[in-house]
Amino acid sequence: MTVLVAYATHSGATQTLAETLAATLGAEGLSAELVDVATDPDPSAYDAVVLGSGVRIEAIEKSAVQWVTGHRAALLERPMAFFSCSGSAADPAKGGKQKATDTFLETIGFSPVAVKKFPGWVLMDKIPLHERLLLKSMRTPTGDFRDLPAVEAWGLEIAPLLAG
Ligand SMILES: Cc1cc2nc3c(=O)[nH]c(=O)nc-3n(C[C@H](O)[C@H](O)[C@H](O)COP(=O)(O)O)c2cc1C
Repeated sequence: MTVLVAYATHSGATQTLAETLAATLGAEGLSAELVDVATDPDPSAYDAVVLGSGVRIEAIEKSAVQWVTGHRAALLERPMAFFSCSGSAADPAKGGKQKATDTFLETIGFSPVAVKKFPGWVLMDKIPLHERLLLKSMRTPTGDFRDLPAVEAWGLEIAPLLAG
């Protein structure tokens, strides 16, 4: 049972969540391979897929949307789970709602076997100056909001769904 764990990231948080997921799935006996979606991995070479993407300006990374669109037929033939990694997932005031993930799911036009919104990090030393200024002007809270035990727990939850 092989699983592609593909991720789209700008500042690295999504990659760390994907690494945690790949390790959890591996410990559950699945053969998980971690790949940057920018390298355009072929989903038809795997039995199942997990895709993770960072959120920027209320949207899932373009590379993730393009990858799903380009490989839609193969992704429809195998279980795919999706997670987003954002600043807003750390904000209880949002009540679990997120425009980026909702729009992404509408755009791809099919339902993954599981969907999760995880908090990432907003670390000024990991983003370019113009983005720092943007985030400062928006008074975006900064810090490392990742919850890796929650990512591991989700990995345990989706392992049987991916195995079909
Ligand atoms: C320029 C910029 C825009 C962002 N826009 C949003 C946003 O619209 N909504 C949100 O919840 N988080 C937003 N974030 C926070 C990111 O989602 C968060 O930093 C996440 O960890 C990014 O994933 P990555 O590190 O894998 O790129 C933004 C971060 C940056 C740097």
